Amino acid sequence: MLEGKVAVVTGAAHGLGRSHALELARRGARVVVNDLGARADGHGRDESAARAVVEEITAAGGEAVAHFGDVADWNDARSLVETAVSSFGDLHVLVCNAGFLRDATLFSMSEEDFDAVVRVHLKGHFCCMRHAAGYWRETAKARGAPLYGRLVTTASEAALLGSPGQPNYAAAKAGIVAMTVGAAQLLHKYGVTANCIMPRARTRMTETGPVAQYFRKPERGFDVFAVENTSPLVAWLASPAAGRVSGQLFVVWGKDVTVVGRPTLETKFSSDAPWSVESLQATLGPHFEKLEPVTDGFGVQGA
Ligand SMILES: NC(=O)c1ccc[n+]([C@@H]2O[C@H](COP(=O)([O-])OP(=O)(O)OC[C@H]3O[C@@H](n4cnc5c(N)ncnc54)[C@H](O)[C@@H]3O)[C@@H](O)[C@H]2O)c1
Repeated sequence: MLEGKVAVVTGAAHGLGRSHALELARRGARVVVNDLGARADGHGRDESAARAVVEEITAAGGEAVAHFGDVADWNDARSLVETAVSSFGDLHVLVCNAGFLRDATLFSMSEEDFDAVVRVHLKGHFCCMRHAAGYWRETAKARGAPLYGRLVTTASEAALLGSPGQPNYAAAKAGIVAMTVGAAQLLHKYGVTANCIMPRARTRMTETGPVAQYFRKPERGFDVFAVENTSPLVAWLASPAAGRVSGQLFVVWGKDVTVVGRPTLETKFSSDAPWSVESLQATLGPHFEKLEPVTDGFGVQGA
């Protein structure tokens, strides 16, 4: 399915990224395994983590190299794209996945924890997407024809539903959604698709804290929150088969893949005269009188 393709997966030493890298390699891609080996809160570095995934892929008969750069560092992200090209001759697939959490509510979040989480997710996606997009455009121009490019980004349902304990993370993930949909529009003419997944899985991010109980592995039966449940979608989006799929958002976990609908402008009120505070109150007041304030992730189960 992915024979001859070169893929970069960021944050591929643990959790979802590791699972995506293994699945892409199993499907025939040569993989650059990026990870600086941070702890779950983003602190620390450990190159052995990415090396172990490279060894796992090569032991299974695949091809992979490690890259230990920081996705949110401009030069590291450029060297990540260069590593794919210098090691394997091209870049076809970029899976942006790296990140970490530092949860707190608006009451208690520090400036440092806001900046660090927005940096790793939003800027980390931007830097890698920026250098890959540049490479794809230059290559397409040199060839005089569109090429094969697949961008898969990673957001979270927190971007759609809100997450009161994660104002840094939810905002960064919402930015990733916007950036992916924009990239799909920009890169279309070069032959590059861009799609975004919103996974749920048991990883370092979810196996501790208040959500741990929800993500727990069952004693028997299907493991709904195993990371492996999410990776076939990533491989399919990376494949030639998904060539017409672009600008889409997918929620993925367990045995479900849900395509998120485009936002709709739901209820429109028009006025003959320009709106005033009084006429807004006369019109919107009765409308919202009937609705509950949004305090619960729009009532979506598990949000
Ligand atoms: N686990 C879930 O339920 C869930 C839900 C929604 C979204 N996500 C997203 O999925 C992605 C993967 O998360 P995970 O749950 O597998 O967590 P994880 O902690 O298991 O993996 C994240 C990986 O990113 C790496 N990383 C961190 N900072 C980096 C940096 N600056 N440069 C390169 N690598 C870096 C870490 O070393 C780690 O290996 C994240 O973007 C996360 O927000 C996860």
